[in-house]
Amino acid sequence: MAQDILKGKRGIITGALDENSIAWKVAEKAHQQGAMFTLTNAPIAMRMGQINKLAELTGSQIIPADATNMDDIKNLYEKSIDVLGGKIDFVLHSIGMSPNVRKNIPYTELNYDFYNKSLDVSAISLHKMLSSAYKMDALNEEASVVALSYIAAQRAYPFYNDMAEAKAMLESIVRSFGYHYGKAKKVRINSVSQSPTKTTAGTGIKGFDDFFNFAESLSPLGNASAESCADFCVALFSDMCKMITMQNIFHDGGYSNTGVSMEAMEKFKS
Ligand code: NAI
Repeated sequence: MAQDILKGKRGIITGALDENSIAWKVAEKAHQQGAMFTLTNAPIAMRMGQINKLAELTGSQIIPADATNMDDIKNLYEKSIDVLGGKIDFVLHSIGMSPNVRKNIPYTELNYDFYNKSLDVSAISLHKMLSSAYKMDALNEEASVVALSYIAAQRAYPFYNDMAEAKAMLESIVRSFGYHYGKAKKVRINSVSQSPTKTTAGTGIKGFDDFFNFAESLSPLGNASAESCADFCVALFSDMCKMITMQNIFHDGGYSNTGVSMEAMEKFKS
C-alpha cells in the first residue's frame, strides 16, 4: 500500500462514534497516510462514544459540534484551522440519524417533526458544513469533501424508511454544491455509496442483519467492509483523484449493477 499519500494535508473527520464507525476507520487510515486532522461529533455522542481513544491513537484534537448548528460549525472550522496551522484540505461527512428509524415508526406513518430532523441531521448538515466553509473560505484550493451515502437514494428499500429521502437529498447537495465550489476553488465534492456495514447507525435499521446477508449473496465481491471504504475515502482525499467531483460512487462489491446472483437463484429453485 502506498504510504503518505495525505502527507501535509489537514482535515476534519466527523462521525467517529466507536471502533465500528466508518469514520473511525477513515481516521486510522488517514493518520497512516500522513494526514493531520481534527475529530468532531455531536456533543451527546462524545459522552457515549470512545472518541478520546481515537484522538490519542491519531494525535488529533476533538472539537465537539452538532452538525445542524451553524455556530458550532463555524467554531469547528475556526478551531481546526488554528489547531492544524492552516486551511483545510479534506472533510469527511459521516453523519446519519433518523428519529423515525430509531422509534420504529413505519414509513407510511412518518412523524413529520422527526422527518425534518432526519433530513437536517443526515443531509442538510452537509450543505451547512459546505456553506460555512464557502463563506469563511476555510478550504484550500483543490480540497476534497466526501459524504457517505446508500443505494436507497435511488431504489426502494422498504426498511430504510425516511433515510432514503435523506440520502437522495445528500447526493443532490453533492452535485449542486460541487458545481459552485468547483467553479470557485476547484474543491471536489463526492459521495460514496457504501455496502451495508455493521455499525451503530447500520444495525439500528430494522432487519439489518438479514439484509446484510442478502447484499453479501448478491455482490460478486461480497459486501465492502468499513476498512475498504476508508481506503477509498483516503484515495478521494488524495491528489490521485483531482478530477473527480459531483459524483456518487458505488463502493459495494458490484451489488448496484447485479440483477441476480446464482446464490440468490438457488434459494428460489422450484
Ligand atoms: P455510526 O453510527 O458509527 O456514525 C454515525 C455518526 O453520526 C455518529 O458518530 C453520530 O454521533 C453522528 N451524528 C448523529 N447526529 C449528529 C449531529 N447532529 N451532529 C454531528 N454528528 C452526528 O454509523 P456509520 O455506519 O459509520 O455511519 C456513517 C455514515 O455512513 C452515515 O452517513 C451512514 O448513513 C452512512 N452509511 C452507513 C452504512 C451502514 O450500513 N452502516 C451504509 C451506507 C452509508
